[in-house]
Amino acid sequence: MNYFEIMDEMFSEFEEYKEIQKGKGIRGKLITIINPDAHKLAAIVESIHLASLLHDDVIDEAETRRGVASINAKYGDFTAVMLGDIIYSKAFFELIDFGKDIAKIISNAVYLLSQGELEDVKLSKNINTDKAKYMNMIYKKTASLIEASCAAAALSKGYDSEKFALYGKNIGIAFQIVDDLLDITQDEKILGKPSMHDFFEGKTTLPYIYLMESLNSEDKEKLIKNTGIIKKGLNLLGRNRKTVLSHHKAFELTDELEAKVEEMLVCLKEEKNGS
Ligand code: FPP
Ligand code: MG
Repeated sequence: MNYFEIMDEMFSEFEEYKEIQKGKGIRGKLITIINPDAHKLAAIVESIHLASLLHDDVIDEAETRRGVASINAKYGDFTAVMLGDIIYSKAFFELIDFGKDIAKIISNAVYLLSQGELEDVKLSKNINTDKAKYMNMIYKKTASLIEASCAAAALSKGYDSEKFALYGKNIGIAFQIVDDLLDITQDEKILGKPSMHDFFEGKTTLPYIYLMESLNSEDKEKLIKNTGIIKKGLNLLGRNRKTVLSHHKAFELTDELEAKVEEMLVCLKEEKNGS
């Protein structure tokens, strides 16, 4: 059975679970590429990720997820939170069988991603223009579980887990920056959720941080005052979403990370080949 089939079996008794669309399964893919025998571990990590998204959609008051109505929108917040708790608890119950070291790596990532989510909520209360705070938050919220996935899979296969952890961390950070860029560049049909939603929620992702850096104080003030109505805010400046994207630094940063990831791939292949 592959990791999605294992998950379906784990949660088959919960009707609402069946309504959830499958995602890309990135964490599971990385785990099973590193260790093709680790589908159970991949199912556990994907379950934890799924539980975190159920909770995140409640926090973000999201109406849709992966192109369909979110569980909170369809069944209410209580059901979404409890289903998240059920999935999360079952995943941890199964994780114990993988031994202390792997359980510690994964549970520490959940500790970090929960902190990251809280930081995200706090940062969105005021307009954050601090890049270091944004980077630290996305590391915790998104990259920590991808980092842990690679480290745990490597450990289960007897590879150097630190090297794989760094690879996962870089992929995770690049992934979240790209996800934040897609929020601006893509439309609702492609995203499966409303576009330009981050700023609406008060989240200043990297392109907005760079935009803020480039504005004079009067324009900055205009934009900050119009959080929640980003289009109006940008229109007030006589600009549109292209303005946000004219700040290519966010793309440069992902290019840099991609280069790092490529570099690491060579090292990891050597590690796998035992050289
Ligand atoms: C998506 O962020 C959210 C996460 C990657 C992590 C959320 C983590 C929690 C809610 C903590 C969960 C804790 C336990 C114990 C399960 P996003 O809103 O930027 O992405 P989105 O656009 O996909 O919603
Ligand atoms: Mg969200």
